[in-house]
Amino acid sequence: MTARAILLTGAAGVVGQALLAELTGRPVICLLRRGRLPAAGPEVVTGDISRPSFGLPPEVYESLTRRVGTVIHSAALTEWGRPAEDYEGVNIAGTRHVIDFARVAGASVHYISTAFVAALAGEAPVRLRPDNVTTNYVLSKRASELLLAESGVPHSVYRPTNLIGHSTTGWTSKPQIVQLVADWVGRGRAEVFPAHPGNLIDVVAQDLCAKAVAEAIRRDDVGRQFWLTYGKAAMTVDEAVELLIEHARSTGRRIRIPRIVHPADLDEAELNALPPSSRRFVQVLGDVSEVTAASGGILPSSMSELVEEYGLPEIGDKDAFRRSLLAAAN
Ligand SMILES: NC(=O)c1ccc[n+]([C@@H]2O[C@H](COP(=O)([O-])OP(=O)(O)OC[C@H]3O[C@@H](n4cnc5c(N)ncnc54)[C@H](OP(=O)(O)O)[C@@H]3O)[C@@H](O)[C@H]2O)c1
Repeated sequence: MTARAILLTGAAGVVGQALLAELTGRPVICLLRRGRLPAAGPEVVTGDISRPSFGLPPEVYESLTRRVGTVIHSAALTEWGRPAEDYEGVNIAGTRHVIDFARVAGASVHYISTAFVAALAGEAPVRLRPDNVTTNYVLSKRASELLLAESGVPHSVYRPTNLIGHSTTGWTSKPQIVQLVADWVGRGRAEVFPAHPGNLIDVVAQDLCAKAVAEAIRRDDVGRQFWLTYGKAAMTVDEAVELLIEHARSTGRRIRIPRIVHPADLDEAELNALPPSSRRFVQVLGDVSEVTAASGGILPSSMSELVEEYGLPEIGDKDAFRRSLLAAAN
């Protein structure tokens, strides 16, 4: 008998593409909204998770429910700074529709959440401001986790921190915030770097995330929660900035070393004097720093569990970060 297929939502996204490279041995059906896969191969269904039955014709939906045994739910509105209703429509309603599908199909769900939900824990030492650029996004991801927890559908939750490129090649299908910031620092445009004291900078290679999900599915292991983060082994802010400077120098640039400033101490006049793109970076970095501070400065981590139990490779975050910087520069 052929193994039941894996339905992968968000297959054309950064995580989706990393997942496609790791999912072997089972048929994969990619649910795409309008994005395209870089290469032909996997079966594709065009649908919209924000609509009931993904907006699919009944016969297509019904056929999927018969064929699919596992859903990896990676599709989401990932852009920050949008109004709450935008995330409600795609992220929350989308997860509801995935749950409906899984119920009918008798499938398990592997949900790609975010490590940022740690900022909403009851004991958070710093409150996430409602106007933090990530707040509505993070709320929608936590709401999705709660929907799954209450659904009775067998599921696992994966909470990656900010993604960087592939651990050995540095490649990414779309530059992520970390690479964009690195580019900004590398061009000497960063005069200040906002960070709460004690925060660690936690980034993870996209293939490592994909390997964790693929291995859980291979083992048919559900009912788990994994923090795809480095936790207390993550880089200090000084180490991260040093790496950025070292990288910029290796490309022949002489750049200024940004001052590390508590976001609350950012000087309004100094901010206003920055070019708009730099001002935006400083604001976004300050908001991301607030997320980490609200998570206690150090994110929870399941990395050692994943290495010991799942045999995931031990990939150093600094080495992977260096490779992402190099790939972004080429
Ligand atoms: N990237 C990170 O640093 C990071 C970190 C932590 C957690 N995550 C989580 O990981 C997951 C994947 O993120 P990503 O970085 O791969 O994001 P991404 O590159 O923005 O991809 C998201 C995918 O979702 C699809 N999508 C959006 N709305 C849809 C809809 N209504 N119906 C069907 N598909 C829809 C998009 O399709 P189109 O291309 O057609 O628009 C896109 O392919 C998300 O749940 C995100 O919260 C990401």
